[in-house]
Amino acid sequence: MLEKDVKDILFDEPALARRVAELGRRIEEDYRGRELLVIGVLKGANVFLGDLIRQIGLDLEVDFIAASSYGNATESSGVVRILKDLDYPIEGRHVLLIEDLIDTGLTLQYLAENFRSRGPASLKICTLLDKPERRKVDITVDYKGFDIPDEFIVGYGIDYSQKYRNLPYIATLKPSVYSQGAGEAR
Ligand code: PRP
Repeated sequence: MLEKDVKDILFDEPALARRVAELGRRIEEDYRGRELLVIGVLKGANVFLGDLIRQIGLDLEVDFIAASSYGNATESSGVVRILKDLDYPIEGRHVLLIEDLIDTGLTLQYLAENFRSRGPASLKICTLLDKPERRKVDITVDYKGFDIPDEFIVGYGIDYSQKYRNLPYIATLKPSVYSQGAGEAR
């Protein structure tokens, strides 16, 4: 059972649903009259994106990019490898990039620069979670769910060592889990 590894629940299902609905409403207002292309960064953003798009009552399309950042166990290096590129061109499109978590900001800095070079009509960034203490580069975040402390968190799409993504809430992990050192930290 995954629950035994959970320390504290930071955001339970109703809290997540409320915030996602608020973000969806704001996005809907801001993009009314424009065709929106929502791009999720796999794998972590998958659950958030799935809930968010159902709160946006506009014509929209969805695409995904999978990126992995080279680095050591706990820190990305800023060198990002694209594991799966977008299926479609984004030139002239209104793009909303969806992340689950911004930590150092290096992944998003790379992706935003890469996307801008493809000539979108506009590019905005939406993240569910932000760890501002950890930031290494300036990122303008247009839509944000919650700021969180610099702790290992899991659930609602976010993993520790590829597990816990299916927890329906966002929680911190007991130190005994990650001090065993099996996987990468986020
Ligand atoms: C996480 C998260 C961001 C990135 C943020 O992805 O989804 O993409 O790390 O870190 P940064 O701001 O320090 O660059 P991860 O590499 O854990 O992959 P995953 O989404 O497949 O779990």
